Amino acid sequence: MDTTSLWKGTAAKTACLPTLQTDLNVDVAIVGAGITGLTAAMLLVQAGKRVAVLDAYKAGDASTGNSTGNLYATVDLGLHTLEELHGLEAMRRVVESRSAAVDLIEATVARLNLECGFQRLPWHLVALDAAHVGEVEKEALAAMRARLHADLRDDAPLPLDAAVKTLVVEDQAQFQPLAYVRQLAQRIGGENCLIFENTRVTAIDDAPAVVHTTHGKLQCQQIVIATHTPIGIHLVQSQLEVVREYGISAPLHDSMPDPGVYWCIGQERHSVRTYTEHGRTWLVVVGSAHSLGEKEVGPERFRNLEAFARDHWPIGPVEYRWSAQRYRAKDKLPYIGRNVDAQNTYIATGFSGDGLTYGTLAGMMLADEILGRGTPWRDLYAVERLTRDDRQDKRPQGFEQESSGPAKPADTPALGADQLSQLADLPPCQSRKIEIDGKPVAVYRGQDGQLQAVAGKCSHMGCEIKWNGAETSWDCDCHGSRFAPDGRVLEGPALAPLQAAKLDQGA
Ligand code: FES
Repeated sequence: MDTTSLWKGTAAKTACLPTLQTDLNVDVAIVGAGITGLTAAMLLVQAGKRVAVLDAYKAGDASTGNSTGNLYATVDLGLHTLEELHGLEAMRRVVESRSAAVDLIEATVARLNLECGFQRLPWHLVALDAAHVGEVEKEALAAMRARLHADLRDDAPLPLDAAVKTLVVEDQAQFQPLAYVRQLAQRIGGENCLIFENTRVTAIDDAPAVVHTTHGKLQCQQIVIATHTPIGIHLVQSQLEVVREYGISAPLHDSMPDPGVYWCIGQERHSVRTYTEHGRTWLVVVGSAHSLGEKEVGPERFRNLEAFARDHWPIGPVEYRWSAQRYRAKDKLPYIGRNVDAQNTYIATGFSGDGLTYGTLAGMMLADEILGRGTPWRDLYAVERLTRDDRQDKRPQGFEQESSGPAKPADTPALGADQLSQLADLPPCQSRKIEIDGKPVAVYRGQDGQLQAVAGKCSHMGCEIKWNGAETSWDCDCHGSRFAPDGRVLEGPALAPLQAAKLDQGA
């Protein structure tokens, strides 16, 4: 199934930025040209630093371009959850820091004249049945204690007949996230902000600080790894749960919901919004979330979202389908700051479903840290809490040492005549795991009938990979690496591709 997001389908095309072809010296190297990396780059350049930003794809195409485009001070797991876990003061500081991030986006849009549809509007939490009224009420109390402008209503300002209770928080925001990031890259790029696309990082050295890529390396003073989860092997990955969710978008005929962010909670949870461009309005529904490894994944994820949308709104054919990965910290707070055991490397991860706002906040905080300016929220999100509490030196197996270099790939056995005859009944667009000499091999037959076979264990830390039929990829449940059928890394912490197995057609 072809998948692409509404944001990728509607963002104005921008010129491709160059690929790094040579060795360079800069003050700060930033890995990842999404909202986190580019926000950090913008602020560092403003302060006089020379930076280089590297991305394996086009700026914003990885995580930012697959988000919801919603910006808010609340959090997806609920402010009441944060208050229960960390106390009132910490919950207020989360809201304060996230509000500051939304303010920075608004100021940046105005200062750089970015055409990304940024709008201030309300955020809603809607109970679709009586069973979820209590959760909405609990969140309303937490929002009020966080000093947000919150209101509890008995209906919803969008056509959802079943809505029984709605929390409204005023003055939140929405935009077209990919338009924002692509235009930001264009505006800040220059002599002191070198942005390289289609440049894959192969290894990162902390001291001295060097970022290696397939074509050249960057020598620098500091490194920011802004890749959603840091690439390579890092202790923080032992504290992250990986969640996948899905999105669809279809043209909306009438019965227009009021603009706003709507989180609808009933038997399932859905995030709903509209997006209007060139006189055409789209309905965006995101949901069907699950922890990696929890459930089989297939096209029914998209069908379920479409059924929910059609139950409530008159939509045309679904034109965009996409998915996104979230990394959720076990203590429900992101990790932002200098990495454990590192002198020069900074990371930002664990944003859960709140990545556009937390990503911007991370860019602000990491720039402040590198500039030695300090930040009022440093202790709240510090990475060093990994080694400060009861997790002290209880490093799970495999995390004994941080490593930002690729693992040595194991040999992948070739498929001989026996295996090829066993696979003769594998239909096009289907996959199968087989074993050769005790080693797992992952096989996929493309639409053209050709087989592609790769190592059946993840190149990050060796977990088994599983087929993802919704997105035609091999996924690893352990830390979220995803691979194309030919073994290329699509996302996640893996640095090396899955090694291809030879097909011994002449055997
Ligand atoms: Fe870590 Fe696969 S992502 S082992």
